[in-house]
Amino acid sequence: MAEPGTEWWASESFWRKCAIFVTAFMALVLVLLTFHTLTVIAAGSEAGRVPAYSVINHRIGYEFDDERNHMVPVIGPVAPLFGEALDEEAARALVDHGKLTVQARNCMNCHTLLGNGAYYAPDLTKAWLDPGWGNEQARELLMTMFLKDPPANARTFGTGRRMPNPHLTDDEVRAVIAYLKWMSAIDTNGFPSGFTPLPQGDLRGDAS
Ligand code: HEC
Repeated sequence: MAEPGTEWWASESFWRKCAIFVTAFMALVLVLLTFHTLTVIAAGSEAGRVPAYSVINHRIGYEFDDERNHMVPVIGPVAPLFGEALDEEAARALVDHGKLTVQARNCMNCHTLLGNGAYYAPDLTKAWLDPGWGNEQARELLMTMFLKDPPANARTFGTGRRMPNPHLTDDEVRAVIAYLKWMSAIDTNGFPSGFTPLPQGDLRGDAS
């Protein structure tokens, strides 16, 4: 039998090589996964988890999926935001403007969006589908009024918390609403959990 410490598997150089190999291999895996994730989360990608921006031209539903055991967005028939159908480029510009407005005004100081932010105020990930807007007909008007003057139109959910007026322009309000509508159509694996949407109109019928 060999002297203790001289076996190949106990040698220092073997374990050094192992460490270098594992580190290099996992770095490669990380790079590959990063590129894979970027393609999956791209808007309108084939994976279908993040819809194209023009999804704001459609009715968005949110239904329980038995197989996946959580809620998933369902893209319904044509129902353009503010009654105005936009092509992909114009929809992207509008949603981008909304996202930049939300970032510039630091809405995440109080709200959470897609898992980032604070929990002082309601999670905005599915805010477009919030039952608090009453019904689909009233929603666009109520959201516009709320964002134009939150203290006057606050609902407070019994918490007594009020949203300060961010003094958004009309264009910014429309853009923020487009951003929230698009975001509600993202498949977030059922997050935030326990969310029940407002009553949905026909999701599988013809455009009406
Ligand atoms: C200082 C904290 C604070 C900031 C900053 C803030 N909000 Fe709010 N927001 C609130 C509170 C509190 C409510 C709940 C008010 C209520 O319902 O009466 C709310 C409610 C909302 C709602 C309704 C959510 C729902 O599901 O019904 C929307 C939409 C919203 N905020 C958007 C925004 C946007 C967009 C910004 C950035 C421009 C923003 N908020 C910045 C505190 C904040």
